[in-house]
Order: sequence, then structure tokens, then C-alpha cells
Amino acid sequence: MLKGKFIVLGVTGSIAAFKGAELASKLTQAGALVDVIMTKSAMEFIAPLTFRSLTHRPVATDLFAPDSELSLEHVALAERADVMVVAPATANFIAKLALGLADDLLSCTILATKAPVIVVPAMDSGMYENPVTQENVAKLRSRDFVIAGPTAGHLASGISGMGRMLEVEELLGIVRQVLGRKGDLRGKKIVVTAGGTQEPIDPVRHISNRSSGKMGYALVEAARDRGATVTLIATPVALKDPAGVEVVHVNTASEMREAVLKACSGADALLMAAAVADYAPIKPAGQKIKKGQGTLILELKKTPDILSEVKGKIVKVGFAAESENLVANAQKKLRQKKLDFIVANDITSKGSGFASDTNRVTIINRAGKAEDLPLMLKTELAGLILDSVAKLLKRS
Ligand code: PMT
Repeated sequence: MLKGKFIVLGVTGSIAAFKGAELASKLTQAGALVDVIMTKSAMEFIAPLTFRSLTHRPVATDLFAPDSELSLEHVALAERADVMVVAPATANFIAKLALGLADDLLSCTILATKAPVIVVPAMDSGMYENPVTQENVAKLRSRDFVIAGPTAGHLASGISGMGRMLEVEELLGIVRQVLGRKGDLRGKKIVVTAGGTQEPIDPVRHISNRSSGKMGYALVEAARDRGATVTLIATPVALKDPAGVEVVHVNTASEMREAVLKACSGADALLMAAAVADYAPIKPAGQKIKKGQGTLILELKKTPDILSEVKGKIVKVGFAAESENLVANAQKKLRQKKLDFIVANDITSKGSGFASDTNRVTIINRAGKAEDLPLMLKTELAGLILDSVAKLLKRS
């Protein structure tokens, strides 16, 4: 979604300017056209040549540059921008924005633009926590600036505290979310589950499955990038929480049930990509089970069927990971769980199902009609699944 988008990246004078360079590089790699504006103090930390080399575009530094290719650079950049990002944003620059000052190219451009502006604070914790800075940040928030971070962590001063700039991966998510605000799912509330539940046997062991969460997380990011308000209900997985969505962490099927029922109140769609255990130990042992002689028998009970319990005016999408009779088994689940459609996963097919970046599925609609899709990236498949959800939501 970043392909061909004009992004104006403002860099101000902070040691975190190197992260601004990483952001410029990642945005460019994703196909965005990144125009960098640096303040005078930013150039004390990092050279314009770094940004020019990373973005392959000229870097603007001077409001009065006589040799500028654009006659009124701040107006031209302000009009062209799909989004502006100030990363890092110092306390001084935030104060300037709060006052509406326009004494350099970056502040002039921000004042002139109608594009959304994302401000990414980075500073010492004392400066950030100072009531003046807090007031300035609140002022910007109230004027619809998006304030991304900061977070707590190691600071350049050597101490640990609030003021650390967000990591680039998270910022990319926020940029995508802001660009997608007017997408076809804006105003819609979508709940997605991801990962494999973990049913405890004793304090150190559990029953689980091979779900990595990749399919569910792809759906979350795709829905967020199309303007939806997303709640992700996730089991422990190796993936980072996606930016710009509410994340509820759960372990067991019964915790997932509780979280799903809560999140679905008032939601428009539920997409259950999680692999939920069908059975769980009846009574997990209080202490670690010791190795004994012979076999060990675990008594299991059925877990609640979450999808079947969700009722009301909500689009319900299920997944089915099958190793045989793909369509027939998935059709049965579609009927039993009263779904709008089901995504049937052939987990025997190469590159499909658990833990891979790709998936090969058959989508079966409410009437039972099956459509085979070729092997594709889970990120691409997420887009197609959401196209179907968007269509159903339009009709309802
Ligand atoms: O996470 P990845 O590594 O990317 O892998 C993706 C995936 C293979 C896990 C995913 O694409 C997938 O197929 N998920 C469904 C896994 C499954 O086997 O579900 P099921 O056939 O057991 O259940 C059918 C549907 O009912 C599912 O949507 C499931 O979330 C839901 N269910 C299941 C049990 C239960 N107690 N309650 C439920 O709601």
C-alpha cells in the first residue's frame, strides 16, 4: 500500500536521527517516494547525503535555497504529500508546532499541508515528562496530529525512561494505518483471532498446535490498512503486536472464548484464523508431573466452540485446516457453525497451512459453493478474504 505514495519525512535534531534514516530506507524499499526535509540541528547529527543515498531523491534543508527545483518548496511538498512524518521530533520542534511557528522549511511545510501529520517524539525523559511538553503534545493531539510514541527504554543519556523513539517496524504500521484511514472498511469494527491455543497439562507443559499466527496477523494488518478498527485476540506467537490495533493476549480456548465474546459486542465481523484446541486436560496438575513407570494417561474434555457461540448481526468467517476431504469437511463446519464463509486450508499441500508465508485455500460461501485459489502469500490472501468481508458488509 506504500507503493507510489508521496511521504514527506521531517528529521529534527536528535540522536535518534539515525532511526529516521532507517525509516526513510524502509519506506523507499516499500515503494514510497520519500522527500526528506532536515532542520539545521538535524544536520549536526546526520548528513543530508545519507538520506539522499537512501531515498534517491533530493533532500530539502533550506527555506530560501536559490537553486531549489521547486520555486516554493514548502508549498510544493505540502501539496504533494499523502502523509507527513516527523521522525524524530524533538521537544523544541513539538513546541514550535504547538505554537504554529513557521521559521524553517519543515515547520512551514507542516503549517501548509492538508495531509495527515505523524509526530514521532524522541527526547530525554525529563524533557518529555515536563508539563510544558505534555501540554504541547496534548495540543497537537487535539488538532488531529497523530502522536506515535514515545516508549520507555534506554535513552541516549544512559538512563532508562520515557522518551525513546518508536522502532521503525512499528512506525511503518502506523504510516500504513494513517494512509488507509479512508479505506473501504473505515468505520467497521473487525475482530480477528490468531495463533494456536495452549491448554495446560501442568505448570510447565501444554497441548498446542503448529499455528504461527501469520495468517491471522496478515488479516489484522490488511483490515487496519483499509480503515477498520481492529481487535486482535492472539495466543503466544513469535510475531510482534501489530501497530494501531488493540491486542488481547490469551492462552487457552476458554480465555479466547471470553475475549472473543467481549470483543464481538458491537463488532461488524469476526475472522477466526486461530487454531483452537478441541480438547483440553480436565484438571491440569498443580505440580510438574514426574516421570513414572509405564504410560501416562491424560483425561481431556471438549473445549467450548467459540464460533458457534457468537450470534447476532455479525459477519462470521471460519477457517478449517484439513488433511483429508477438504471441501466436505469444511462445508460441514460452515453449516454447523453457521458461518458466512469458510476458508478451507489444505495442509497437505506444499507451502500451505501452518507456519508458512504462503497459503493455498478453497473459499466456500454460505450456499456451499467452493472457489479454489492458487498458492499465494498470506498477505495477498488476507486482501482477498477482506474483499469478501467488505462485500458482505456492504450488503448488510
Ligand atoms: O497461524 P498460521 O501458522 O499462519 O497457520 C494458519 C492456520 C493454518 C492456523 C489457519 O489458516 C487455519 O486454518 N486456522 C483454522 C485451524 C483449524 O483447524 O480450525 P478447526 O477446523 O479446528 O476449526 C474450525 C473453525 O472453528 C476455526 O475458525 C476455529 O478458529 C474455530 N474453532 C475451533 C475450535 C473451537 N473450540 N472453537 C472455534 O471457534
